[in-house]
Amino acid sequence: IGEIKNSDIVVITAGLTRKPGMTREALLHKNAQILKDICLNIKKLASQSIVIVVTNPLDLMTRLALEITGFKPNRVFGMGITLDAARFANLISKELKIPCLDIEACVIGSHSEGMLPLPRFTNIKGVALDEFLDDKKIDTLIKKTLKRGAEIVSLLGSGSAYFAPSAAIAEITKII
Ligand code: 2OP
Repeated sequence: IGEIKNSDIVVITAGLTRKPGMTREALLHKNAQILKDICLNIKKLASQSIVIVVTNPLDLMTRLALEITGFKPNRVFGMGITLDAARFANLISKELKIPCLDIEACVIGSHSEGMLPLPRFTNIKGVALDEFLDDKKIDTLIKKTLKRGAEIVSLLGSGSAYFAPSAAIAEITKII
């Protein structure tokens, strides 16, 4: 943990991952314990850092990190929605057979199955998604986006997604 001393950015990925069939929220109590200890160390050793939380249940852990560190809200981020928007964009890209980079996907809310992909605010080179797909198709892609994390957990059997979360963390870090 001493390695975080004076870091500019600290990314918290520590914690248990869910097993097939579990919700992210089921990890709350155990991961809160793990996060608490880490956040006290961040406060002590990297008091000027920006914190990116990846541990699930992501938004609750981000809130907890905010409270324990006492940092200002603009220095504590959750990774969730960056990942969810990337997943939504990936599904649209496969459906329309166009590059992901042409798609600006918008997802708001929490990194849970309560997330809210917003098709009207999602565009392809500036043109709204509903110009390309009908409501039924869009609804299918939204439902798939909500379940994407759970789908990967069930395919892996043990552990949860790591490729796309890593890319999301890298993107946020670069932007900061
Ligand atoms: C996911 O959605 C691990 O919550 C993460 O894959």
